[in-house]
Amino acid sequence: MKIKDNTILITGGATGIGFALAEALTKAGNKVIICGRRPAKLAEAKARLPGVETKVCDITDEKERAALLEWVKSNFGELNILINNAGAQRTMRLKGGVQDMLGGEDEIQTNLVALVRLSAYFIPFLLEKKESAIINVSSGLAFIPLAVKPVYSASKAAVHSFTVSLRHQLKDSSIKVFEIIPPTVDTDLLKPVAPGNTLAKRMPPHELAAAVLPALASDQYEIPVGEAQGLVEGSRADFYQTFNKINK
Ligand SMILES: NC(=O)c1ccc[n+]([C@@H]2O[C@H](COP(=O)([O-])OP(=O)(O)OC[C@H]3O[C@@H](n4cnc5c(N)ncnc54)[C@H](OP(=O)(O)O)[C@@H]3O)[C@@H](O)[C@H]2O)c1
Repeated sequence: MKIKDNTILITGGATGIGFALAEALTKAGNKVIICGRRPAKLAEAKARLPGVETKVCDITDEKERAALLEWVKSNFGELNILINNAGAQRTMRLKGGVQDMLGGEDEIQTNLVALVRLSAYFIPFLLEKKESAIINVSSGLAFIPLAVKPVYSASKAAVHSFTVSLRHQLKDSSIKVFEIIPPTVDTDLLKPVAPGNTLAKRMPPHELAAAVLPALASDQYEIPVGEAQGLVEGSRADFYQTFNKINK
């Protein structure tokens, strides 16, 4: 896909990987809009990257998801790329029963439900565009789970699966569907690093963005970066053979 002259919405674009993508895509000649819940983080990002537009939005709220699309339609009718990047991650000790799961961020709502619903809201709008894309950020842990992050890993495995189906359903349309599969990246998501995480080497977010842009430009639909490549390869036997068999 072309990687300039697009108008792009990045969820969770004020920090970490989302911000690095916002920065790289702005430099490449795109209009970028970022959203997130914390106005202070959005303002910080805008101070570092004056060209970006910001929007406060909680993507786990159905009304806010619907309102986000209406806001985009009213203000950036030319928008042609959605990057579903916002995410949450928690360590969970499953021997403790349900207690560890109550309270805090709901990874399934943020990582999976919001991504699925936002995609659904934006698809009819993106189908009207000559060239458009949905870019989902999953994780190397979608392919091999990290046991101390059980719900996170499961939610990302579901994001991968959903993205494969989405790409298949949209294959004859104007919407290209990409999956960015990051390795361990140095962002707030990981603080502190999970015990047992042997992917200890943390990639700087700008390095990830630098690897992603050429892959998007060459229509590489699955983009495992760095150590995530080993996790993807390690998880695969005949996945696509089976997928193609049931999706003729
Ligand atoms: N860092 C890694 O090692 C790594 C590896 C693989 C995949 N990833 C994935 O990369 C993506 C970005 O994460 P990151 O590492 O860059 O961490 P991050 O800096 O913590 O970014 C997460 C972003 O998501 C936003 N967000 C969270 N919940 C939201 C909600 N309900 N509504 C709107 N925005 C929300 C946060 O902003 P607010 O809190 O202000 O809303 C924040 O800007 C995630 O999907 C993550 O799973 C990260």
